[in-house]
Amino acid sequence: MRIDILTLFPQMMNMFFEESILKRAQKKGLVEIVFHNLHDYSTTRYGSVDDYPYGGAAGMVMCVEPLANCIEQLQQERHYDEVIYTAPDGEMFDQHMANTLSTSTNLIVLCGHYKGVDERIREHFITKEISIGDYVLTGGELAAAVICDAVIRLIPGVLGDEQSALDDSFQDGLVAPPEYTRPPEYRGWRVPDILLSGNHAKIEAWRMEQAIERTKERRPELLSDTYLPQKNKDN
Ligand code: ADE
Repeated sequence: MRIDILTLFPQMMNMFFEESILKRAQKKGLVEIVFHNLHDYSTTRYGSVDDYPYGGAAGMVMCVEPLANCIEQLQQERHYDEVIYTAPDGEMFDQHMANTLSTSTNLIVLCGHYKGVDERIREHFITKEISIGDYVLTGGELAAAVICDAVIRLIPGVLGDEQSALDDSFQDGLVAPPEYTRPPEYRGWRVPDILLSGNHAKIEAWRMEQAIERTKERRPELLSDTYLPQKNKDN
């Protein structure tokens, strides 16, 4: 998979992709992350990429021309499955969306800033608008990092233990069960006996029970008949 990230602050994001699992995924050639500094596509003498909004509202808007230039140049080089724009009014990101995006070959992620982008970019280039939550960030970079992280870890071969992505919270519509590691007892706090029993069938049944209990307690809407997870919306 190749992900082109269009941002005003490539250094801000670079660090994030240069550590741990995401770094290894790139080294293994499973994903290629390419940053594009939108200032490089400015058509003005001073390299500006934003301007005052028509109608006189406060704040700045990212200009149509540098964004269009950058996206069109990339689209001439290869086909993109999606041109994503991170925005608080986008479709809510969830595990199902991460699963779908993880099967892509090429993605563009445009990080919004200031008051966002000129609406014509959204109308003519963006194929998917994604929000990571009902709150407003100073820019789309963190949202892009969250989306890329959730997507990249699902690419086969990225996680050492293939099974662990399948065991994640939300993969089966439930939150994950509790996990323990050594020592078996600490300050009198014991790991549940069942996990030390070696009986794999019983352990699996216990994990499922715990996942259901936790989901009831913490995210009851995931179990409700009226809750329509993304995966069922398509049917
Ligand atoms: N940009 C600013 N806030 C955001 C959010 N909540 N999700 C995605 N992009 C954003």
